[in-house]
Amino acid sequence: MKTPVRVAVTGAAGQIGYALLFRIASGEMLGKDQPVILQLLELPLDKAQAALKGVIMELEDCAFPLLAGIVGTDDPEVAFKDADVAMLVGARPRGPGMERKDLLLENAKIFTAQGAALNKVASRDVKVLVVGNPANTNAYIAMKSAPDLKPENFTAMLRLDHNRALSQLAGKAGVAVGEIEKLIVWGNHSPTMYPDYRFATVGGASLKDRINDADWNANEFIPKVGKRGAAIIEARGLSSAASAANAAIDHVRDWLLGSNGKWVTMGIPSDGSYGIPEGVIFGFPVITENGSYTLVRDLPVDEFSQKAIDKTLGELEEERGGVAHLLG
Ligand code: NAI
Repeated sequence: MKTPVRVAVTGAAGQIGYALLFRIASGEMLGKDQPVILQLLELPLDKAQAALKGVIMELEDCAFPLLAGIVGTDDPEVAFKDADVAMLVGARPRGPGMERKDLLLENAKIFTAQGAALNKVASRDVKVLVVGNPANTNAYIAMKSAPDLKPENFTAMLRLDHNRALSQLAGKAGVAVGEIEKLIVWGNHSPTMYPDYRFATVGGASLKDRINDADWNANEFIPKVGKRGAAIIEARGLSSAASAANAAIDHVRDWLLGSNGKWVTMGIPSDGSYGIPEGVIFGFPVITENGSYTLVRDLPVDEFSQKAIDKTLGELEEERGGVAHLLG
């Protein structure tokens, strides 16, 4: 039997947690022959801990053969101990009357502490996925707070945006989602992101040529993908949870097991490519293999795309400026 992989999940009793944990434990993320130990973190509040206890009872009741252990805790250093994968889902939601700046700062406190705890106790090769919003900036803060860990192992989730864009494109072009390759979502996980299908193909042929509708791209596709989260809240009364959990599984599975040569979007620390300042956590096209990823380089950027990339970068730079004083 393989050695179990330790997967830490924060915000484990929340909506996304509830849609995520059972799939990890069933082997959908790391493979049907890979045992896992779940290390679950929730807030030190009676209600949150009680809800976590309930989730753990349900996990037990599934009798998953691959679930080799469960830890439930309110202490990040317990949750992250020797973690091989850390999925940081828990975050402070925006409360009534709360300004965006306050939201950033409240989350900065959480991700500074969690970055420091990862730095202290996690596996030296821990793969970190930040889901909790603002995801890119939270990932940046955690990365900066963990100086002994590899910066490239801190990533933010853009995969939900990528999957949303795939689905819209498939509908428009009348093709199956699985046939589309080489899609990119550049930038921040926010409505400023830029879903870019200029290089996308179906069966090797250009999807852009097939759709051939610049007006649809600018006025329907891009805004629709950007505002999809708000549309789900409007329809469901709650934010995306199952689709977010699904995207988190896609992100980690591809990172660890490989994307088989396909492009996927990950929020990763920039190495300065495409004019994105070094260290900014930005949605880029990557090809993944065996726990590492390679940036797809040297793609041409036209004027329309440059404008869109500048816009989403501007927002990320502003967020980074807002927390700079906390990071030394
Ligand atoms: P939720 O409110 O249902 O659950 C969040 C859970 O995190 C709660 O149980 C809460 O007690 C816990 N929590 C809060 N702070 C914590 C901390 N410091 N340590 C441990 N646990 C903590 O929220 P939901 O729907 O599960 O969403 C979680 C986050 O994911 C939100 O920030 C949401 O905006 C974000 N999100 C990101 C997406 C993306 O594509 N990157 C997509 C959808 C949601």
